[in-house]
Amino acid sequence: MAWIKKTFDKIYLEAFNFLNKRSRKEVNEIIKLLKIKKSHLILDLCCGWGRHVCSFYKKSYNIRGIDISNEFISYAKKTCKPKLFSIKDVKKLNYKNEFDIILNLETSFGYYGDNTNKIILRKIYAALRKDGKFLLDLINPSYVANNFKKRLIIYEKEKLKIIDLNELNKQKDVIKTKRLIYLKGKSYTKEIILRLYNKQELKIILKNIGFEKIRFFGKLNGDKYNSKSPRLIVLAEK
Ligand SMILES: C[S@@+](CC[C@H](N)C(=O)[O-])C[C@H]1O[C@@H](n2cnc3c(N)ncnc32)[C@H](O)[C@@H]1O
Repeated sequence: MAWIKKTFDKIYLEAFNFLNKRSRKEVNEIIKLLKIKKSHLILDLCCGWGRHVCSFYKKSYNIRGIDISNEFISYAKKTCKPKLFSIKDVKKLNYKNEFDIILNLETSFGYYGDNTNKIILRKIYAALRKDGKFLLDLINPSYVANNFKKRLIIYEKEKLKIIDLNELNKQKDVIKTKRLIYLKGKSYTKEIILRLYNKQELKIILKNIGFEKIRFFGKLNGDKYNSKSPRLIVLAEK
């Protein structure tokens, strides 16, 4: 997907670094929800610029992060412990029974076609140790359907404004977004194409792969999932 490398670059990082403020709270919630221990080996798949990895590291957890973006990974290496990060394509994961916990946070799944998305989930299953846990943090398709806005202001403060122009294909469950970033007097356009998976679909796919216990939440803090939750949090156990 050509848009991925073009979208996740230095401009995206500068525009979205407001997310850093949330990372510590999110990490505390994840530790509690998944009952993560210091002895566990954690992998953050599609870790971006390492905001969660670094937060786990500062709390002395054993974590690694991989991402396809050179620019994100080089920033992560400069701002946190370099050894924790590597540039890797999630489609080419080849770990076997290595991790106790695998995280995929902030809508980092659904970027490919159905077959490739399923292959990625199979690779995640293979990379987990027995009893390992996989956390998937996605947009809730029911929320998108009920609150769909063609034009959505994502962020607006001082010299930064982010606006999404959305197109929803209901037959294919795909949302195409033209993301306009106005940053320090310049404007940039980013593209995002996302396959939205609902709770039922994910349950079937994950069960077929072999995951045993599959639970859904509306927030990382463990709040119940319902069709009105903006997020769809999936916790699947091997
Ligand atoms: C929305 S960002 C989320 C980043 C991070 N999880 C966070 O919470 O800040 C999605 C990330 O997925 C990464 N990504 C997309 N396709 C990937 C692939 N095939 N392999 C590895 N990373 C990928 C992007 O580079 C980007 O960092």
